[in-house]
Amino acid sequence: MPSGVRRFALATLATSTVALLTTVAAYAGNGGFLPGEAHSPNAHRVHTAFIFVSIFTGIIFVGVEAALVLFIVKYRRGKRPRTAEGPQIHGSTRLEIIWTVVPVVILAVIGTFVFIKLPSITDAPKAAAADQTSIQISGRQFYWQFTYPNGAISIDTLVAPADQVVNERISAPTWDVIHSWWVPDFGGKYDAIPGKVNKTWFKAPAGVYAASCYELCGIQHAAMHATVKVVPRAEYDAFVAQRAQGGAALGREEWQGVCQKCHRLDHAYIGPKLGGNTLLADRHAIEVLLRGGRGQMPAVGKDWTGQQLDALVAYTKQFAKTGGSG
Ligand code: CUA
Repeated sequence: MPSGVRRFALATLATSTVALLTTVAAYAGNGGFLPGEAHSPNAHRVHTAFIFVSIFTGIIFVGVEAALVLFIVKYRRGKRPRTAEGPQIHGSTRLEIIWTVVPVVILAVIGTFVFIKLPSITDAPKAAAADQTSIQISGRQFYWQFTYPNGAISIDTLVAPADQVVNERISAPTWDVIHSWWVPDFGGKYDAIPGKVNKTWFKAPAGVYAASCYELCGIQHAAMHATVKVVPRAEYDAFVAQRAQGGAALGREEWQGVCQKCHRLDHAYIGPKLGGNTLLADRHAIEVLLRGGRGQMPAVGKDWTGQQLDALVAYTKQFAKTGGSG
């Protein structure tokens, strides 16, 4: 082998080995081959489909790689001259029929399986009205707003009753951009599209689940995280009843989930520094700013209720004079 070719071959071998070895570490850090643990019926069905498809792709992968290695070894040049031609073969009807029919059958099997599984992923099970809750999920630059059946609102933390069907109505305001709502433990991602409602559901045991935005939606897309807190029904009922009154807890969520995505009190961030700004205590000025936006700032509160604005000012007025920290 000429030395240039040999050096190239060795370099390729070395890089591939390093790449393969680091894959192991990367997989371990990611929690392995499967998507995250399933905590809702939809996620279980997605898992089943994932494993089913993986069996075929795994067999094909191993088969193709084994044949590749076998051919490299078996048909290597050896002592033949570099210019020697191999035998010329024309057509093999039997082989051609096999490599057409087998993939068609595999695709048909996978397709049938997925189409049988899909409807139960999209359709919410028929549960008694008392065991169902419907929550509106609205993606906005750069926060998630949740509206409960009694009108209560929360920002970036969705509270839901445990072990009951929770219908999600996912959308975005017409003046906003496309976002994507994803709770990995509950299954697939759902686009939050301005003016269109996408529906899905979950039924999860009590626990805290991570959610995030999965559609590049602007400068703070990466900060669009949310939490789903699944709690016993009584606790959920108490939460929505109390939250319907607005108050400091809502104000703090708005400050942290909406303002602080782009602003800090003590220094300029994506937007200007806010500490000491008299606007923070001025209900009217805040309303004009949030409803209309200004410069780079989107109209983050265009459709906010008076109660939402009151809650925000009640919380932010403390920062108007002192500046505070955080
Ligand atoms: Cu919202 Cu990315």
